[in-house]
Amino acid sequence: MKVLGIESSCDETGVAVYDTTAGLIADQLHSQIDLHAAYGGVVPELASRDHIRRLPMLVRQALAEAGCSFAELDAVAYTAGPGLAGALLVGASFAESLALSLAIPALPIHHLEGHLLSPLLATEPPMFPFVALLVSGGHTQLMAVTGVGQYALLGETVDDAAGEAFDKTAKLLGLGYPGGPQLARLAESGKSGRFKLPRPMLRSGDLDFSFSGLKTAVLNVVSSPGWLPTDAADLAADFQDAVVEVLCAKALRALSDTRLTQLVVAGGVGANRQLRSRLDTEVARRGWSVHYPEPALCTDNGAMIAFAGALRLMAGERQTGMQAVRVRPRWPLADLVAPERSAVT
Ligand code: KG4
Ligand code: ZN
Repeated sequence: MKVLGIESSCDETGVAVYDTTAGLIADQLHSQIDLHAAYGGVVPELASRDHIRRLPMLVRQALAEAGCSFAELDAVAYTAGPGLAGALLVGASFAESLALSLAIPALPIHHLEGHLLSPLLATEPPMFPFVALLVSGGHTQLMAVTGVGQYALLGETVDDAAGEAFDKTAKLLGLGYPGGPQLARLAESGKSGRFKLPRPMLRSGDLDFSFSGLKTAVLNVVSSPGWLPTDAADLAADFQDAVVEVLCAKALRALSDTRLTQLVVAGGVGANRQLRSRLDTEVARRGWSVHYPEPALCTDNGAMIAFAGALRLMAGERQTGMQAVRVRPRWPLADLVAPERSAVT
């Protein structure tokens, strides 16, 4: 079965084709970084318009790359939320209309489900059950994952997401958009240990996170009289250390609390090299394993949506006939149910 996947929840237009026997056979992406850079962040209206502009061409390119025609598709999967309402509506209307015209199912997919299943696309994928650490620009969550659509929330951020903290701190340090990768790059040239930054909720006894105080601590340093912009790399290194230490400690705690031995890391912050190296070391020391998506699949992409759609389709989920084009800009992942139980025939 071949599933076309469409991602348009934020500032990337992604279109991919996943074949349940051949695997990922097309993966096309257009990033809007240049479009939003001048504004220092994503402008929702510009994002929606650009998705409209790019989507038809990317779909044609994906089909050409896959060497398949519209008639050979078995389903169209699309990101239905969470994300920017206008941006989601572009992908949802396109996908629902295409599926209707082809008389095949349209599958609304949760963006974070796409992220957390994406490590299963790797050459040595983990098996269910596992703990997922979801670290994106909008979410920071630990989930116990027992199957497709079976996600139990273990803990989450009470304020900023980890990626959001990276982005906001990058702004404080005068870096451009997108801030996370730039801050991480700057941190690599810095030396940590000079600035005593807090480790928020490290000893809270639960699996929740908080990052907004850390950002404020950075603000206090850069607005102090002795601050020198030449110290930015060292401060970036200290900030990254603090975030990585907390993420790592809570992920390890989630594994021991649930007695699970596999950790899956997904979402844009999962591309962070220091986070990966620290998790690799700590997890290996305990005889557990940690799995990441391929680097290109860490940030938003159509492949993870096509793949999540394919898994749901194989599990029996069918939604035929035009669904009301409805998106959910806010959508708790724990609300999802396994495909068998949600099947509509
Ligand atoms: O998953 P994603 O592409 O989009 C959302 O669903 O939010 O994640 C984007 C987030 C941004 O906040 C970005 O700054 C952050 O991931 N990010 C990073 C790195 N690469 C992306 N944060 C830290 N280190 C990185 N290397
Ligand atoms: Zn994402």
